[in-house]
Amino acid sequence: MRRRRLNPFIRELSQENRLSIKNLILPLFIVDGENQQQKIPSMPGIFRYSIDRLLDQCKLAFSLGIPAVALFPVTPINKKNNQGSEALNPDNLVCRALNKVKLEIPDLLLIADVALDPYTSHGQDGLIDENGYVLNDQTIEILSKQAVLQSQAGADIIAPSDMMDGRIGKIRKELDNASLEHKLICAYTAKYASAFYGPFRDAVGSKDNLGGSNKNNYQMNPANRKEAITEAELDIGEGADFLMVKPGLPYLDIIYQLADKFNLPIFAYQVSGEYSCILAADNNGWLDAKQVMMESLMAFRRAGAQAIFTYYALNAAKILAENY
Ligand code: PBG
Repeated sequence: MRRRRLNPFIRELSQENRLSIKNLILPLFIVDGENQQQKIPSMPGIFRYSIDRLLDQCKLAFSLGIPAVALFPVTPINKKNNQGSEALNPDNLVCRALNKVKLEIPDLLLIADVALDPYTSHGQDGLIDENGYVLNDQTIEILSKQAVLQSQAGADIIAPSDMMDGRIGKIRKELDNASLEHKLICAYTAKYASAFYGPFRDAVGSKDNLGGSNKNNYQMNPANRKEAITEAELDIGEGADFLMVKPGLPYLDIIYQLADKFNLPIFAYQVSGEYSCILAADNNGWLDAKQVMMESLMAFRRAGAQAIFTYYALNAAKILAENY
């Protein structure tokens, strides 16, 4: 076995999987205002940007060869309510951002998150009843309208992260009805109820809204593997173009399983908590974030992920470009 590990050239020739800049997707947080670059204390090196500054980040990503960015808005508290109605304002922050970026960088793929949690005063991804239960069918009516608005504003790929039942089919139908049949859907197929989302909820400001509640009655139970197969079958049947697994590294078995069983491209989301763990350990001098990140991203490729949402995308792209 060691003959094939003898030197870098033989190791390269024997290498089974590759990580390319084309496998990277950069998530970005947006805030209202101008010339804003706000630190996110629980995510070292990651910022919330106003649209003008977001544009610079998108240009940088595009110039490095990153094919896609995923946009996440921070909604001011006075625009949040019980119904999350700001989600359906065609002039809301994310729609303005999509519009602007599409205009300036038409070839950069724009991914828009579909869910109500940035907009609801209770922080849930959908409408709730008097007991706080998240209503399914009433929610997907709104989500499909949100998807149409985001697509009209310039999104190329709609990414429902809400985990309501039947939302992929409903969104596909409403996109087609609105003559948006060329817009793609990246379904968050196996999205688990995970504590690894903590820093993200700080970043978008939904943590306080959520308070002590959780999302266990719609996001998946971390103990379940086979259930992800059923979720994938449903999403494929309803018209998904890509399937996503989230979180990433703790769920490599799920990525591997879906990549093995289904023919659609599988995406993985290296979520905020995964990013912050690695960066925090690096900041303490306990490990080297650069090496651990590149190893982790390769692990996603080995498991079968076609693309990886990662907050490290800009750094990873620079590292990959240098080592080409
Ligand atoms: C919300 C959403 C979440 C993430 C992406 N979209 C958080 C949640 O479900 O509470 C998490 C991303 C991350 O942690 O990096 N619909």
